[in-house]
Parts: sequence; structure tokens; C-alpha cells
Amino acid sequence: MSNRNPLARQTPLHSGFGPRTTAKEVLGGRDLTGKVAIVTGGYAGLGLETVKALASAGATVIVPARTPAKAQAALGGIPGVELERLELMDPGSIDAFAERFLAAGRPLHILIHSAGIMATPPMRDSRGYEAQLATNHLGHFQLAARLWPALKKAGGARIVSVSSRGHQLGGFDFEDPNFTARDYERWAAYAQSKTANALFAVAMDKRGERHGVRAFAAHPGTIITNLSRYMTEDELRGISALNERGERVLFTYDDEFKTIEEGAATLVWCAVHAQLDGKGGVYCENGDIAVLTSAPFTPGVYERAVNDEDAERLWTLSERLTGVPFVV
Ligand SMILES: NC(=O)c1ccc[n+]([C@@H]2O[C@H](COP(=O)([O-])OP(=O)(O)OC[C@H]3O[C@@H](n4cnc5c(N)ncnc54)[C@H](OP(=O)(O)O)[C@@H]3O)[C@@H](O)[C@H]2O)c1
Repeated sequence: MSNRNPLARQTPLHSGFGPRTTAKEVLGGRDLTGKVAIVTGGYAGLGLETVKALASAGATVIVPARTPAKAQAALGGIPGVELERLELMDPGSIDAFAERFLAAGRPLHILIHSAGIMATPPMRDSRGYEAQLATNHLGHFQLAARLWPALKKAGGARIVSVSSRGHQLGGFDFEDPNFTARDYERWAAYAQSKTANALFAVAMDKRGERHGVRAFAAHPGTIITNLSRYMTEDELRGISALNERGERVLFTYDDEFKTIEEGAATLVWCAVHAQLDGKGGVYCENGDIAVLTSAPFTPGVYERAVNDEDAERLWTLSERLTGVPFVV
């Protein structure tokens, strides 16, 4: 039974990896032949890089896309990659994708929740749920619930919930998760959803451990991708990510600002590395387990994003909001 004290859990392993490690370096010569992975958002940004890394090591990688033409352009013809359809804001689409996957009878060794949106204008799904909560957390919660039989069947699966240092911008509002009583604030909504991603890993791991299914939360670093599509020019300039021609580029390159190959490294480390055997329910960054912190915009995870009580509360709320009992 894993240690359920977040203070004790969030202890770095001194893995030997760091901010400059790339996904390929994490893999080393690892052979993933026979492993089956699903990577949501695997056709853009960090997900795409992760898919390429896993497929190059021999894994079969299923990439469910809401924009199939974009996925085809990014991944068509790569050996081992299969394209599928999925809209995380549409519960029917999630069920349909999971049913197709389960019908094939395959085990699922790796499930990576990389799809995401950030700081969007106010948007809601057909149930009235706030879009960042619906996409980044609730859709993935439902997906994992529906895919559970295949995860269990793998006999040693891992789930990677892609969180963010953005969780430090705000916690989860259990009273008003959908911004019905408070004014919508797009960064608070992102922070809430990324806190949810971290809490999900805690509660998922608690349930999955006895079935050999372990869950991790990962912060990739700050990487210029299409995720920044809703950031204003001022916000982009504030992180030195806009040049004089109005193009999004990173001027800063440090332990937090990374290349895409470095950004995918922690996702891949959580998904496959033996250093994490027997572990789970932890928030990781820079190819290691992160420390607990309370200082804003520093490496590490806030306690409110990894504590068991909030993780359990969120699990119950997610079951209620999705209408999907996730009993393992
Ligand atoms: N980039 C960073 O600096 C950074 C930092 C911390 C955490 N993260 C996290 O890393 C993850 C990946 O981000 P990224 O930078 O790779 O972003 P990205 O390049 O924008 O890729 C996001 C992917 O998610 C897909 N997606 C969005 N909404 C979806 C929906 N409703 N249903 C299905 N797919 C959907 C997008 O599809 P379309 O292309 O069709 O829209 C896209 O393929 C996110 O969870 C993000 O929060 C990123």
C-alpha cells in the first residue's frame, strides 16, 4: 500500500534526469513492442512528441482526435500509430471511442491524458459545464472510467494525467466548479482544471494500485505550442514569447522554458520508466517526483493539488457531474 501522506509521497528520487532531458533520452533503448498506448491530444504539441517517442520504441499508439485531418497530417504513415475520433467535450463521443477500443479486446498499458485547452474565453459544453473543466478533467475522468477494463487487463498499466505549474494560480472550487455563481476568470478556470488533473492522479492511484494500475500527474514545463492560442499579446510578451513580427517564440530558455522534446520527457518518464515501478499518486516534473512547495511559480506542487481529502471529494463530484460511476 502506497504512502498516502503527500508530504512523504512527494519526495524526489534524484532520477538523474532533469529539465534538459528529452523524451528519447528517457526511453534510452527501451523496447515497447507489444505495449498499447492511448494519447489524447497526441496530434499536436507535447502529445504529438510523446506519440512519436512511444511509437519509435515499438509501442502501438492510438491517437483519438477531434480534428481528424490535423491528426492525419501530423501522424499519417507513422508505423504503429492508429488514428481514432474523440471529442472530450462530448460524453457520447467518449463512450463511443471507448466502446470501439474495448470491442477489439486489447489491453491498455499506457493512457496519457495530454489533450487540453488553456485560458479560453467563456465557453460551455452541451451540459452547461465550463469548457476547461469539461475538457481537461471531466472528459478524461470519463475516458479512464470507460477504459478501465482494458487498463486492468494490462496487468501493470500506467495513467499519466498532464497537469501544469498553472495549478499554482488557483485551487479547485468545490462550491462553484462551473462558474455559475462567480464571474468567469479564464486563468482561474485553467488552474482549477490543472489542480483537478493532479488530484485525479492521487485518487486514481489509490484505487488502481491493487489492480496494478498506477497513476501519475506530470508538469511538462513551459513550451510554446498551440495551447497559447487564447493568450493575449500582452500575456505572451509578459513571458517573452512574442517577437517583433508577432510570432510566438520563446526568448527564455531555462529550467522551466523548454523545447518540445524536453517538454515530453516527463510524460514519457511517468508512462514507462522503471524508476517509478511500485510508485504512484505523485506529481512529477523535470523527469523526477516534484517537491511540495507553497511558493508561487517555483518548481514543485501545492499541497492542495495532491491531498487525499480533496482528491476523494473531486472523485465523487466527477462521478456526479459526468453521471459515470467509476468503481474499480
Ligand atoms: N505547453 C505548455 O507550456 C504546457 C505547460 C503545462 C501543461 N501543459 C499541458 O500539456 C497538455 C498538452 O498541451 P500542448 O501544449 O501540447 O497543447 P496543444 O499543442 O494545444 O495540444 C493540445 C491537444 O489537445 C487537443 N484537444 C483540445 N481540446 C480537445 C477536445 N475537446 N477533445 C479532444 N482533443 C482536444 C487539441 O486538439 P485540436 O488541435 O484539434 O484543437 C490538441 O491536439 C495540456 O493538458 C496542457 O494543459 C502544457
